[in-house]
Amino acid sequence: MSIFDKKVVLIRDEQPLLEYFIPESVTHRDGQKQELAECLRPVTVNRKPRNAFLYGPCGTGKTLLVQWLLRELEGHTSRARTAYVNCWKRNTTHAALTEILSQLDIYVNYRQAATDLLKLLEKEAAKKQVVVCLDEVDSLETSELLYDLSRSGVGLVLVSNDAYAMVDMDPRIKSSVNAEGIEFPMYTDEEVFGIVKVRAKYGLVPGAAKENDLKTIARLSNGDARIAIETLRRAALVAEDKEQERITGDDVKKAFGSTGMLRRSDALKKLNEHEQALYQLMEKHKKIGTKELWEKYVKADKKPASQRSYRNYMNHLARLGLIKAKGELTGREYELAS
Ligand SMILES: Nc1ncnc2c1ncn2[C@@H]1O[C@H](COP(=O)(O)OP(=O)(O)OP(=O)(O)O)[C@@H](O)[C@H]1O
Ligand SMILES: [Mg+2]
Repeated sequence: MSIFDKKVVLIRDEQPLLEYFIPESVTHRDGQKQELAECLRPVTVNRKPRNAFLYGPCGTGKTLLVQWLLRELEGHTSRARTAYVNCWKRNTTHAALTEILSQLDIYVNYRQAATDLLKLLEKEAAKKQVVVCLDEVDSLETSELLYDLSRSGVGLVLVSNDAYAMVDMDPRIKSSVNAEGIEFPMYTDEEVFGIVKVRAKYGLVPGAAKENDLKTIARLSNGDARIAIETLRRAALVAEDKEQERITGDDVKKAFGSTGMLRRSDALKKLNEHEQALYQLMEKHKKIGTKELWEKYVKADKKPASQRSYRNYMNHLARLGLIKAKGELTGREYELAS
């Protein structure tokens, strides 16, 4: 036996336990699948699709469903070309357009102006039906890109955690995009259990995780499938390190503790600069009234946002689970989530 051999192996295939794995089927999302397929169906008869806006909390299957359906669409018809962009990673107009074009196999020079890139995309959209997904769409530096894209003939699938991401947009952009909203509600514990059970079946050796432990994972994960899958992976690693034949309740608790940090860092990635400044103030003050926080923010930020945006930003922090909000209007109080 080599020194590198592990005595106990619980993970037989790591792929199903990783975030970007696309399972063969997407469960519990039939309604959303139908609605999005309905929007994209015109592509199959060479017509422009309807634009869609997918929204809902973290880990509710938005990214998975879009990627799964775009893949199905390309497999179904040769008329369609698709591109998927994570706008958190490509948050400028230029970066997003370069990424879209490269996924359509159109290679461009980095020095080409955004207007030229847009013309190239228009040319492609005149030849084929192009569907572009902009995931984490509220991370874009400017939503003008949405206006330009919607007029360039491409179909759009926009994704955000924030149900209000479109509401706050310039009416000119909003009416030009005219997207159909598709809601992704939080999963129930039972649904998360179902999802994590499939991952355990394909990712772990038989008997490595008992149903009860999977139920605990589902309950702790609070409707977030990403946290559940990551907790399962970490729990298996903890048990392997201890050379156990199976995961125990303690391993689950330990693993879940470390995914708490993952959740926070995931959410933090989704903040714009004003929200980051506000979150830093929250970290400093822990619990603070809205008026007091606003005053501190205006003092600290060189170019503070308007008071209306401030309220939206704080609501966004609350929806991401980074803070808790209590009370209404001027009596509103914010508290850093534990
Ligand atoms: N219905 C499902 N069936 C199987 N796996 C799922 C399902 N829903 C989510 N998952 C898995 O859970 C993880 C999180 O899902 P996904 O990334 O799609 O969430 P999201 O809604 O895009 O979250 P966020 O808003 O944080 O980006 C992924 O690994 C995904 O494969
Ligand atoms: Mg996502």
